[in-house]
Amino acid sequence: MAITYELIKTCKQTGARLGRVHTPHGSFETPMFMPVGTLATVKTMSPEELEQMGAQIILSNTYHLWLRPGEDIVEEAGGLHKFMNWNGSILTDSGGFQVFSLSDLRQIEEEGVHFRNHISGEKLFLSPEKAMRIQNSLGADIMMAFDECPPYPAEYDYMKKSVERTSRWAERCLEGHNRPNDQGLFGIVQGGEYEELRRQSAKDLTSMNFPGYAIGGLSVGEPKDVMNRVLDFTTPLLPDHKPRYLMGVGSPDSLIDGSLRGIDMFDCVLPTRIARNGTLMTSEGRLVVRNAKFARDFRPIDENCNCHTCRNYSRAYIRHLVKANETFGFRLTTYHNLHFLLKLMGRVREAIREDRLGDFREEFFEQYGFNKP
Ligand code: GUN
Ligand code: ZN
Repeated sequence: MAITYELIKTCKQTGARLGRVHTPHGSFETPMFMPVGTLATVKTMSPEELEQMGAQIILSNTYHLWLRPGEDIVEEAGGLHKFMNWNGSILTDSGGFQVFSLSDLRQIEEEGVHFRNHISGEKLFLSPEKAMRIQNSLGADIMMAFDECPPYPAEYDYMKKSVERTSRWAERCLEGHNRPNDQGLFGIVQGGEYEELRRQSAKDLTSMNFPGYAIGGLSVGEPKDVMNRVLDFTTPLLPDHKPRYLMGVGSPDSLIDGSLRGIDMFDCVLPTRIARNGTLMTSEGRLVVRNAKFARDFRPIDENCNCHTCRNYSRAYIRHLVKANETFGFRLTTYHNLHFLLKLMGRVREAIREDRLGDFREEFFEQYGFNKP
């Protein structure tokens, strides 16, 4: 099997899992955050910088790489790892979510989804088989099943039909996957906020024996307590000896709340996206570096951070660069935000090791400025 999961220990205080995922490009400890590199690059960061900040697995997107440069070119380069010079692990999302979030004029049929290219307007079609073919060409260590991620809120009857279709598509993904020995395919549990449908989806997918499972359809605009409630009843439905991935989640509070509900992997564009508009995650909450009050503030972004940015550059300098739209400014803010989340996950793992993730949550939320639960 291409992907295996080793459970190291469970936090006695919360039930969170400390583990290790093994892939053909090395292993990484979990819970882990995956920086997003949609177009075969984590925007503004070199692979060397990603490695230096402690990233071990990154996410890329089937949908975007299919449209440009085309998966055939990536395959000809020797696969995504070689193409982008990243030797750590890679996970590719299937394109399902992007079709739903980026394209208009889509039409969902049993066979697949018809939609328009969000760049050129050209008519396109994506199906489970095609999503597998493209991901096999890209060659990531982990690929995702082609699913439907309905918006929030969605009616129960629609969600039920969607869950059933996602299960049939998952079967077709397994059938169409041509490299099971060096690429692990994860199933995606859907079902929105409905416990019965999450249960049905988890039952269908776990019977297909994927090497890992994702929880999809969350972080799509629902309140935080809805996400936490869904996780409370969904993670226990997944096997203990396989990784669990919560898709599209990356705010510091949700990473902690997901970890303590038994999630092992997360990804989100949040840290990189907000960095490019001058918002930084710090141990005391968000800092908007464009703010005039930082014009003469020569302290680092976060006094408690030892990243390359914080060791060498001031708020005043970064504010100046960001306001002047200088690329280097975006590199410095992106580096800090990713370092912040990767370090946060390291602290989460340490807290699990010491059976005190609940205490850690309290301390972190207090300092970050969130209200207590
Ligand atoms: N990214 C965030 N949520 C989802 C989801 O539900 N499905 C897929 N494929 N990708 C996602
Ligand atoms: Zn920093």
